Amino acid sequence: MSSYKHVLVTGIITLCIGYVPVSAIYFLPYKTLFKADKTNSENHPPVVKIITPAANSFFNWNSSMEYTIKVSDVEDGESEQLEITSNEVFLEVMYVADTSSAKNYVGKTAQSHFESPGLQLFMKADCLNCHAIKTSVQGPSFQDIARKYPKTPATIKTLADRVIDGSSGVWGISAMASHPDLTQAQAEQIIQWVLENAQDPNRNYFSGTKGSFQIRARPATEKEGVYILTATYTDRGIKGRPQSGKNGLHTIMLRSK
Ligand code: HEC
Repeated sequence: MSSYKHVLVTGIITLCIGYVPVSAIYFLPYKTLFKADKTNSENHPPVVKIITPAANSFFNWNSSMEYTIKVSDVEDGESEQLEITSNEVFLEVMYVADTSSAKNYVGKTAQSHFESPGLQLFMKADCLNCHAIKTSVQGPSFQDIARKYPKTPATIKTLADRVIDGSSGVWGISAMASHPDLTQAQAEQIIQWVLENAQDPNRNYFSGTKGSFQIRARPATEKEGVYILTATYTDRGIKGRPQSGKNGLHTIMLRSK
């Protein structure tokens, strides 16, 4: 595009010299071309959609709920064609006991997803390949890690070091690979987010475009609440411009039967 632009502009100048004022001809088409070029290379935001369960549908207490998410992005492609890999897509599942406040909560949480640097880094890293928030898989659950370690600057530093260097023998399951791509500051932000959020009984996080999550037992004393599902994807932006990535999200609410 830019070489084409130069050929065109140079051509116009060459043709016009001697006939009309050069500056008028030069600036008009150049400005138009420049604007067109900018529009063409603008990154389009991704479209994220929770396909199942349907928005405003009902759930059964104490059951397993399956979900599927679809992401379409002009630049990155389609999750259904595996052009967007499933571990780039996230789902937050939240139980809100106070139904009257659920609506406000929806907007707030959705926004906070993109404002928390720890969560953003966590979502980009490979942690959920081996860990889950509430259950132990290859690695210990983040809930168990958050229960074991108090949130102090010293433990945050130690755990960040272990994530960067790799770790074995602490939990006696298997070993954690090293993460040399994370800086100390990034690893600490992730750990901080984990220690602050993994123990919340009403929130869980998953990666992937499909899976299932557990609906809690019917509450005995409190009022019956709702579930809020928020799916997110941050696109890869334009090559060479890492800051140009755009966020897409979809939030739905589910009610008890
Ligand atoms: C290849 C699988 C794998 C990946 C990927 C992985 N972990 Fe681990 N993680 C483990 C295993 C296994 C353990 C238990 C290691 C041990 O017993 O020392 C562990 C332990 C931990 C611990 C506890 C360390 C301790 O000393 O108690 C933290 C914190 C942790 N992981 C965070 C993360 C974070 C954050 C990420 C993503 C940046 C991540 N892990 C990615 C497998 C993994």
